[in-house]
Amino acid sequence: MHKLRTAVIGAGFIGPAHVEAVRRLGFAEVVALAEVLPEVAKAKAEQLGLTRYTSNIDEVLTDPDIDIVHVCTPNHLHYPVAKKALEAGKHVLCEKPLAMTSAEGEDLVKTARAAKKVAAVHFNNRCYPLTRHMRALVETGELGEIIVCNGVYLQDWLFFPTDYNWRLEPEFSGETRVVGDLGSHWLDLCEFITGCRVKELCADFATFIPVRQKPKKQVEAFAGKILTSDDYELVPVKTEDYAAIMLRFDGKARGNVTISNVTAGRKNYLNIEIYGTKKAVGWNSENPNELWIGRREANNEILIKDPSLIHASVRHFCDLPGGHAEGFDTAIKQTVRRVYAYIAADGIAKGLPVDFATFEDGLRELRLCDAIVKSARENRWVQV
Ligand SMILES: NC(=O)c1ccc[n+]([C@@H]2O[C@H](COP(=O)([O-])OP(=O)(O)OC[C@H]3O[C@@H](n4cnc5c(N)ncnc54)[C@H](O)[C@@H]3O)[C@@H](O)[C@H]2O)c1
Repeated sequence: MHKLRTAVIGAGFIGPAHVEAVRRLGFAEVVALAEVLPEVAKAKAEQLGLTRYTSNIDEVLTDPDIDIVHVCTPNHLHYPVAKKALEAGKHVLCEKPLAMTSAEGEDLVKTARAAKKVAAVHFNNRCYPLTRHMRALVETGELGEIIVCNGVYLQDWLFFPTDYNWRLEPEFSGETRVVGDLGSHWLDLCEFITGCRVKELCADFATFIPVRQKPKKQVEAFAGKILTSDDYELVPVKTEDYAAIMLRFDGKARGNVTISNVTAGRKNYLNIEIYGTKKAVGWNSENPNELWIGRREANNEILIKDPSLIHASVRHFCDLPGGHAEGFDTAIKQTVRRVYAYIAADGIAKGLPVDFATFEDGLRELRLCDAIVKSARENRWVQV
């Protein structure tokens, strides 16, 4: 079989991580890159060692030699690019959130089914060895019945009024900011680990920085510190800096999660704690090689990621022995590997089980986001 051939659309922060993940598989190659402007496409392609680049997405979508399209653009382009790619007969790995609205998400699910192509969403937190181990502990009953799911997803990169990004603009990001951007990861991970589904929720939003200073010109990363006041325009902020959400799951479990990107010192802190009737586990993305295990009747423990110590059924999520840290980029590689292995094995035709987040999972998160926004607006509990 020929190597699977990939086009990556968007090469800002996450696009290059996708390129690297595909390259690490061995049975696939990135053959094209699309970026917004010709000069950006050229510069990014050179940095990434790619010879083919374009600023015209259609050029890669209509190329019969390309098997898979990775959608790594700002959120507003996920729907049109993923839809066109599926209709052009490509498999798609789309960044989260899957789309701007549930209606778009529903249409993408339908389009993927009709196209009979693999349609995956990049919920990469599912693919750390220790988040998989947490799930295995739930599935084998070692935690007992799940009663409390608690956590945060906190960042600080929009902490100052001069911090600016497309995520602040609803036309690019959607009507929610931190909930769609970060909350989608936490909620997906929580439901994935526990198997519990959120049935009702109550959300509180805050925008602590209601007006921001938007740079009038494109600035290189980290150059913000040397701009003067003339280089900015004042713009109102329409989306939330912070969300706190109380959760009721089917079954007994209750939970809560706090999400923010204006919380000083927290860089990319997804913390999740699952409390069962036998014991508890806690994990965070800034220290992903350690799992906290909580007990009432004995000492607590820290489990260090080690294929010989984690649940046998999830050992294959470790590529390295204990003491050799595996982090953000390896979880991306593990996600991409599973999507590509499914494509290579002709998983849809053979009805093979799926081991990655699909467009259905992406739609689930969009529906949860809808309920969260509704709850915050109407200041009440909302059913999902
Ligand atoms: N799964 C994760 O852990 C994770 C992490 C970061 C970002 N993301 C998601 O990835 C997406 C991109 O986020 P980012 O942080 O990389 O943003 P970014 O702004 O750093 O990169 C986006 C890139 O898309 C390019 N782009 C814009 N319009 C385009 C067009 N018409 N054609 C081609 N390229 C175009 C931009 O020029 C930019 O280089 C978002 O949806 C975000 O939610 C996911």
